[in-house]
Amino acid sequence: MKTLASCALHFAFCTLHFAFCISYSSVAHATQPARAADPSGKETSAAPSAVQLRTFSPGAVWPDTNGVHINAHGGGILYKDGTYYWVGEKRGRQQEALGFNVYSSKDLYNWRYEGVALAPVEGDPQHDLAKGCAMERPKILYNDRTKKYVMWFHLELRGKGYSAARAAVAISDKVAGPYKFLRSFRPNGNMSRDMTLFQDDDGAAYHIFASRDNVDMRICRLTGDYLGPTSEDRVISSDEREAPAMLKHRGKYYLITSACSAWAPNAARLYKADSIRGPWSNEGNPVRGPNANTTFGCQSTHVLPVAGREGAFIFMADRWRGNGNLIDSRYVWLPIQFDGDRVVIEWMDHWDLRWFDKAGRTDIPVGRS
Ligand code: GAL
Repeated sequence: MKTLASCALHFAFCTLHFAFCISYSSVAHATQPARAADPSGKETSAAPSAVQLRTFSPGAVWPDTNGVHINAHGGGILYKDGTYYWVGEKRGRQQEALGFNVYSSKDLYNWRYEGVALAPVEGDPQHDLAKGCAMERPKILYNDRTKKYVMWFHLELRGKGYSAARAAVAISDKVAGPYKFLRSFRPNGNMSRDMTLFQDDDGAAYHIFASRDNVDMRICRLTGDYLGPTSEDRVISSDEREAPAMLKHRGKYYLITSACSAWAPNAARLYKADSIRGPWSNEGNPVRGPNANTTFGCQSTHVLPVAGREGAFIFMADRWRGNGNLIDSRYVWLPIQFDGDRVVIEWMDHWDLRWFDKAGRTDIPVGRS
C-alpha cells in the first residue's frame, strides 16, 4: 500500500520529469530545426517551425514549414502562377512506396506540405497501383491546351520486382492533386524505367526514359495533350544510363544522367545536342571537385529553371539512404554553372539564389563560390 509520502514523492518526480521533457524538447527544437522524418512514413503533427530558411544546405535534413524533413524523393518541380510545386516519392519504412507527396513554395527554401497527390490502391490486388507496387520519379507538366496537369512516373507492378518497366500517366485539374490514374504501359512497346519529362519552348513535351533493360536512354515526344507517346521516338545513348534530368540553355539541350548502380551513387554523365532530335554527344562528368566520381554521393533527378532568371538552373539530386530508411534520403541542390557551352556542377556547403545575381550574366566563371 502506498503511503501519502511516497505518493507525494512520486508526484514531485513526475512533475520534474514532465518539466524536463518540455524544456528538453524546446531546446532540441531550437537547436535542431527539423525532426528527421518518421520512418513509419506517417506525417506526425508538429509544432509549426519558426525557422525561416534562407539558404540551401545540400545534404542536410530539410524541414518543411511543419518542421518535418521533406518526403519527396526522386522528384521534380513545376512553377505555376508564382508558386513552385515539388512532387516526389513519399517513402516509408525501408523501401516502402507510399505514392507521391506535393509541397509548395514561393521562394524555393521554405516548403509547405500540400498532401498526397497520388497513392497506391488498397484492397484491389489487380490494380496497376496495387499497394506493394513501386511508384518512382514523378514529374508534372501543365498542358496549356487542355488546362490539365499531367503526371508521368515510373511504375513497377506489385510482386514483379523491376520487370514490368512501365510508364504511368495521371491527370488533375489542380497542380497539387489529387491526380486520377489513367493507365500504365510500355511506350511504343519499349521498357520504361527511370524517367523525366521536358517541356520545350514551343510547348512540345518529351518523355525521356531508360529502356531496353537500362541500356538505352530514349526520348519520345508526347501527344498534344501530353497523355501518350508519339512515333517521334529516338535513342539518345546506349551507354547504360538512368536518372535523366534535362535542361535547355541558349538553344542547346543538356541531359544529365547517372550510371546504373541502384541506390549506390556513381559518376554523372552529361549529353549535349543542338537539336532535341539529336545527335547527342557524350560530354563526360559535369561534376567537379572532391567526390565528383560519386556525384557528391547523389543521383540526378531534375534540373529546375529558376523562374524569371535567364540562365539560372538548379541541379536537383537525391542522396539515397537505400539500405536504411529511404524516407531519410537527403536532397542535394546545386547551381549549374556554364563554362561556354559546358555544364559544370561544384559542391557548396550553403548557398542561396543571390549566387545567380553575383554572376551578373548568364555565364558564370567556373570556380567561383
Ligand atoms: C535506381 C533508380 C531509382 C530506383 C532504384 C531502385 O537505379 O535510379 O529510382 O529505381 O534504382 O534500386
